[in-house]
Amino acid sequence: MIVRSVTDLRATVQDWRRSGLSCALVPTMGALHEGHLALVRLARQSCARVVVSIFVNPLQFGPNEDLAAYPRREAADVAAATQAGAQLVFVPTVTEMYAPGHATTVHVVGLSEGLCGPHRPGHFDGVATVVTKLLLQALPDAAFFGEKDYQQLLIIRRLARDLDIPVRIEGMPIMREPDGLAMSSRNAYLSADQRRIAPELAATLGDMARTLASSGGAVSQVVAAGKARLLAAGFSSIDYVEVCDAGTLAPVARVEGPARLLAAVRLGGTRLIDNVPVAGKTA
Ligand code: PAF
Repeated sequence: MIVRSVTDLRATVQDWRRSGLSCALVPTMGALHEGHLALVRLARQSCARVVVSIFVNPLQFGPNEDLAAYPRREAADVAAATQAGAQLVFVPTVTEMYAPGHATTVHVVGLSEGLCGPHRPGHFDGVATVVTKLLLQALPDAAFFGEKDYQQLLIIRRLARDLDIPVRIEGMPIMREPDGLAMSSRNAYLSADQRRIAPELAATLGDMARTLASSGGAVSQVVAAGKARLLAAGFSSIDYVEVCDAGTLAPVARVEGPARLLAAVRLGGTRLIDNVPVAGKTA
């Protein structure tokens, strides 16, 4: 079932609730790939009903970003989401989501500031605002997000906690192509040559994480070597490669507790992000 208005979304979810059915939300911007569908299946395992939202959120795109080019294929997405287990696909228009005069944004201090923050000004406020609205519109028991957008996931956990939104925020490990490339709707932008280079991002991060875990070495040397390898592999530029505390995203100089290695790189006009957990020194 497709619904396009908040009123209809709420009415359906309330009907489910009256029947004692739990409800999960999987927010997406469409162009669904296997990573999204795995989220829908996971959501279906934990809740009786699953809502998938499809909304290309203009608030989270910068003026020079790919809002216009972002792939839109509603019919195929609705079919795929339904096949994966969603009972309702919420496809609001921009004016349904942002009524004329909309003036409120959500900003999560701290977590939004580093990593992708400086490279995509306003992006996380756009994400935080739309996710807050979606959570309040659907009022699901649980909402599901991929760990590929690790910074986004932590921001969403924080806003739900800080704003007392009664929802469980569930993260799911990154789904990867057989060659290791993290699944993303933006992979469709890659040329054949770029697609051959792209998996080197995951391979480099994996090797860096193993080096950090086994040597406990200074992060700066491992990061410098990793950046050199990425540029040698053919990536056009690097926005960042950083090792951060897995909970606060504060940069760390040595890996002493749970940490995350995160990167954003450019391949031609396409920006790719990826991240891996880093274990503390094991030997
Ligand atoms: O990760 C995404 O696809 C988007 O940022 C989200 C969470 C659906 C908000 O628009």
